[in-house]
Amino acid sequence: MPGVLAAYAAAITPDDPLAGLEIGERPAPEPPAGWAIVNVKTAALNHHDLWSLRGVGLAEDQLPMILGCDAAGTDEDGNEVVVHSVITSDSWRGDDTLDPRRSLLSERYQGALAEHVAVPKRNLLPKPPELSFEHAACLPTAWLTAYRMLFTRGAVVPGMTVLVQGAGGGVATALVVLASAAGARVWVTSRSENKREQALGLGADQTFEPGARLPERVDAVMETVGNATWGHSMRSLKPGGTLVVSGATSGDASPAELARVFFLQLSVVGSTMGTRDELERLICFCLERDIRPTIQAQMPLADARAGFQALLDGDVVGKIVFSV
Ligand SMILES: NC(=O)c1ccc[n+]([C@@H]2O[C@H](COP(=O)([O-])OP(=O)(O)OC[C@H]3O[C@@H](n4cnc5c(N)ncnc54)[C@H](OP(=O)(O)O)[C@@H]3O)[C@@H](O)[C@H]2O)c1
Repeated sequence: MPGVLAAYAAAITPDDPLAGLEIGERPAPEPPAGWAIVNVKTAALNHHDLWSLRGVGLAEDQLPMILGCDAAGTDEDGNEVVVHSVITSDSWRGDDTLDPRRSLLSERYQGALAEHVAVPKRNLLPKPPELSFEHAACLPTAWLTAYRMLFTRGAVVPGMTVLVQGAGGGVATALVVLASAAGARVWVTSRSENKREQALGLGADQTFEPGARLPERVDAVMETVGNATWGHSMRSLKPGGTLVVSGATSGDASPAELARVFFLQLSVVGSTMGTRDELERLICFCLERDIRPTIQAQMPLADARAGFQALLDGDVVGKIVFSV
C-alpha cells in the first residue's frame, strides 16, 4: 500500500516542540469497520498540535503520530465533508464531549494533517458548497470550541458584554466574530497593538492592553490564555458573571481567587470542543450570517513546518491551513 504525505510527531520534545516534527511519508490509514477514509483537501493547524509535540496528551509509546484535528475533504463516494474531530467510544450515547473515553484525532487515532485520514462514519458532516474547503477546515476545533464556550457553556445572549482574553488565536478570533454576530458587546485584550487593531476589524467593540482596567465589569469572560490573564478575568466579572475556560496556553492559573468566586457568586465553567450537533449548528450560523473564519496563511502540507513555526512564535491572527 503506498504511503501518504503527513505532518507527524516523531519525537516528544517539550522545550523545542518543532524538533520532533517530521513532514514525510506515513502508512496509509486502514479503516476499521464503520470508519471512512477522507481524502483531505484542506487541514488546519491548532495549538493542540504544539501541545502534542510537547508531550501534552501524547505519550512517547504512541509515536509516530500524525498530527492535526481538523480536516475537510471528500469521502470515498466523492461527497464533500467536514470531519468532527471528537472520537467517542462506539457504545457512547449523549453529549460527545462528556464521554470519558473520547479522544481527538491525533491523540489515539492518526490525525488529519495528511493526504488521507480515517474517522468513524458518524464523524462526517456534509460540507455545504458555499463553504470552501479552507474555511470548512477551520471549524471543527477552534471555531467549534468558541461556539460551545459562548452559547452552550457561557449562555451568552444579545446585549451581554463579553471579554475575550487574547485576540490573535484561532479560538480568540472565532470568539470575537461569533459573539459579535450574536449581538454581544465584545471587548478584547491582546499583547500586540496590531492584533488589537485587527480585532476591531473582526467585530470587537473595544480593545485593551492585557490587565487594563475596563470601563465597567462584564457579564462573561472567555479564557484560553490561563495564568497570564486569569487574575484580570476574575477581576473583570460583574457579580453573578461567568468565566468560561477552555485552555491555558500560558500555564495553570494561580491564585484561584476563591474569595471572589463565592462573594461575587461567579461561575467558573469548563468547556471543551463541541458536539456533532453543535458543529452542524455552527456551520448553519456561518452560512446564515455570511461568516467565514479568518485565515492568516495557507500553504502546501509539504511546507507545514513554516506554519508550525509561525504558531509557535505567536505570530498569527486567525488560522493557518494546509492544502493537501
Ligand atoms: N479545550 C479545548 O477543547 C480546546 C480547543 C481549542 C483550543 N484549546 C486551547 O486553547 C488555547 C488557544 O488555542 P488556539 O488554537 O487558539 O491557540 P493560538 O492560535 O496559538 O492562540 C493563542 C492565544 O493566546 C493569547 N495569549 C495572550 N497572552 C498570552 C501569553 N502570555 N502567552 C501565550 N498566549 C497568549 C494570544 O493572544 P495575543 O497574541 O493576541 O495576545 C492568542 O489569542 C490553547 O492552549 C489550546 O490548547 C482548547
